[in-house]
Amino acid sequence: MSKTDIVILAAGKGTRMQSSLPKVLHPLAGTPMLGHVIAAADTVTNSQKIIVTGHAAERVEKTFAAAEAVFVQQTEQLGTAHAVEMALPYLRKDAKVLILYGDVPLIKADTIAKMLGAVTDQSISLLTISLDDPMGYGRIVRNTDGEIESIIEQKDASADQLTIKEINTGVLALGAGQLCAWLPQVDNNNAQGEFYLTDLIALARSNGFSVNSIQPTSATEVEGVNNRIQLSQLERAYQLELAEALMLSGTSLADPNRFDQRGTLSAGTDNYIDINCVFAGTVTIGSNVTIGPNCQIINSTIGDGVEIKANSHIEQAVIGDRAIIGPFARLRPGTELGSDTKVGNFVETKKAVVGNGSKINHLSYVGDAELGENVNVGAGTITCNYDGVNKHKTIMGNGVFIGSNSTLIAPIKIANEGFVAAGSTVNQDVSADTLAVSRAKQRNISGWKRPTKKES
Ligand code: UD1
Ligand code: MG
Repeated sequence: MSKTDIVILAAGKGTRMQSSLPKVLHPLAGTPMLGHVIAAADTVTNSQKIIVTGHAAERVEKTFAAAEAVFVQQTEQLGTAHAVEMALPYLRKDAKVLILYGDVPLIKADTIAKMLGAVTDQSISLLTISLDDPMGYGRIVRNTDGEIESIIEQKDASADQLTIKEINTGVLALGAGQLCAWLPQVDNNNAQGEFYLTDLIALARSNGFSVNSIQPTSATEVEGVNNRIQLSQLERAYQLELAEALMLSGTSLADPNRFDQRGTLSAGTDNYIDINCVFAGTVTIGSNVTIGPNCQIINSTIGDGVEIKANSHIEQAVIGDRAIIGPFARLRPGTELGSDTKVGNFVETKKAVVGNGSKINHLSYVGDAELGENVNVGAGTITCNYDGVNKHKTIMGNGVFIGSNSTLIAPIKIANEGFVAAGSTVNQDVSADTLAVSRAKQRNISGWKRPTKKES
């Protein structure tokens, strides 16, 4: 049994979510819950995924069209055994079968490996955990030798059985041959009139199989989501795990409870991240980076020694070593800052390539621009990149100085060491080492009489 078929149950409506979005598509750490389960399944080598959809099946299938899974529909939800039955035609002979749940998103690869490792020709694996409050779960019934005999659902349990603290997480692994032989024997003769997958345990025992119980590393791994409160609790538990992993790898967090990672974050060492920062997509940060409070960083790469001050928003940007950003800076897609650059408060950049040592310190818009090295863009400078129809480029050579409150009408090129006087509106190229002044000449009128108030 070197192949594994992984059946993921995702047919439920999730009524208690009170949502038009199918439950398994609700995001956890920025990824739909089902996406987390698929990622865990993908850690199993030589595996195939069979996803059982039902409620809003098309939407679920469309969301995961790239997941290389077989989708099967369960049009009527008649119980967990019935759901797994939908997958039977796709199971490969001699495969191990693992059952996962689309609304139990945090199952770990290690646990899955342990489960599969414990499946033999004579045994099946069941993931169980002991809970102080086992309310609602199927209880694990063991014999006097401590061997698992069966699972009894809450609604079918006797008063004695209800005191059992060890519960069924639902996650199960067994040989495809056994599953195909036993599943048709499951009936719906129980309190809920459903076909219970849990009946497989007693069937396994009556066929001479033993049931190996595997325990997860923590309860969050097997917690399911039924409502938005549980989703938020799982989100925080997961974020804390990510925060702790980041801290253990050498980044300090002001408060791990106020940290959010919605994607992949790779970081060097000796970084400091203040409160309420959100990292989304793929973010890479170097070492000795300081990030102030309330920053959002999306799909970006940040070099060593960078300082990002409070309330900055950075998306699809590449930031060179020792750059200083913000506070209140907005770097939009296509921003590439060289090393030792500065982008200050209320500056917006977009498709802007900025050479080493250049500064855009205050209140500017720099879009569709290429700046050389050691350029100084004065306060309030605007690149007019859009003529209402097309976008045009602004190019500045090395050592260019743009005086404050200048308007640069693209397409325009200011050559090396070019100088634009403050308050200029520039629409012609400026040659190297040249001063461009384009503003009304100042007149001073002496003895000027101020207006006086009219008598009514
Ligand atoms: C199930 C287990 C219970 C276990 C608990 C863990 C059974 C009979 N009981 O109970 O022992 O403690 O999970 O959370 O298996 N689903 C379908 N199609 C169906 C029915 C369910 O796809 O026809 C999906 C649901 O969307 C859900 C999962 O299977 O994701 C579990 O179903 P649910 O109805 O929540 O089972 P529980 O009563 O919680
Ligand atoms: Mg449930």
